[in-house]
Amino acid sequence: MRFLEACARRPVDATPVWVMRQAGRYLPEYRAIRDKLSFIEMCKRPDVAAEVTLQPLRRFDLDAAIVFADILLPLEGMGIGFHFVSEGGPVIDKPVRAAADLAGIRALDPARDVPYLIETINLVRRELADSVPLIGFAGAPFTLASYVVEGGHSKDYAAIKTLIYSDPDTFDRLMRMLSDAVVAYLLAQVDAGAQALQLFDSWVGWLSPYDYERHALPYVRSVIERVKGRAPLIYFANGAAGMLPLVATAGSDVVGVDWRSDLDRAWAELGDGIAVQGNLDPVVLLGPAAAIEPRVADILHRAGARPGHIFNLGHGVLPSTPPDNVKYLVDAVHRLSAAS
Ligand code: CP3
Repeated sequence: MRFLEACARRPVDATPVWVMRQAGRYLPEYRAIRDKLSFIEMCKRPDVAAEVTLQPLRRFDLDAAIVFADILLPLEGMGIGFHFVSEGGPVIDKPVRAAADLAGIRALDPARDVPYLIETINLVRRELADSVPLIGFAGAPFTLASYVVEGGHSKDYAAIKTLIYSDPDTFDRLMRMLSDAVVAYLLAQVDAGAQALQLFDSWVGWLSPYDYERHALPYVRSVIERVKGRAPLIYFANGAAGMLPLVATAGSDVVGVDWRSDLDRAWAELGDGIAVQGNLDPVVLLGPAAAIEPRVADILHRAGARPGHIFNLGHGVLPSTPPDNVKYLVDAVHRLSAAS
């Protein structure tokens, strides 16, 4: 399977490609189900979550599936309630701002708290057999903490940064609890049949390298140490173009690079011992198909002949993306990389 070979930096016949957020609202067959069920209901119904996981694979020649779930799902079992508001994204019921707010938080027990996810992975693996591997995922500790402390999406991450600066002990205790939960959540997915893992650090790019190194990276490192060897692990550090040498020390097999760097420069900073995933700007997929190919060719050229490149977007696919453009992208990656 090309994707797993590339994770191990072994040569492949064509560059593997998958798309972050490949199961979602840009697909009419997703929206047809979503019209009847809430997003959380979809996640908690294994038959539905498995179906939605497989939808993009029926349309496109993707090299991996990613299980339909969310980085926030473990929070509920930990006693951190949240809900989704339409257009506004996730909202945390009681954001953590001080030591006393940690009192109600408990350890995640995947069998008790996310049995639906385990069942979804079982169903998807049965369907996929050995066609393409299945990726499980979690949020990285800082990205999860940013939701728990900010209470939702943030423009400036002022609340979590202020917690770091003013009460580092409470921040550290929260990060340790989240790190333990992330480890349990990832290992449960591997036990259920996930063949690779991705850690999404979507908001870590809002930290200075100084704070990243002290207040985010050590927890990522500890998570990776504890899952290492169970499945190849991709660490997607969004917005981290200014601190890639630090990102490389997290210990992942693969680093996911956003679109703000040239892939060859990013790879030079990460070092040859790491596989690289990325990094097409997702907005390219909104434009005409003719605009896609030169950008795919450029990224493949920058990856060069080195083994260990997994093609992906530099962040999640946007809901307004025409599905035909995703098809064009996937086919172009295979065609151009096989020919070179
Ligand atoms: O990649 C996939 O196809 C698997 C499914 C997946 C979802 N969320 C489903 C989802 C994955 C990998 C995620 C990860 C995720 N969730 C991240 C990291 C990736 C990134 O984009 O940086 C983050 C930050 C979240 C938290 C989250 N979940 C937000 C901020 C939102 C609301 C914004 C939005 O995109 O709608 C969600 C909801 C969500 N998660 C949806 C889906 C398909 C949309 C739900 C709907 O249909 O309304």
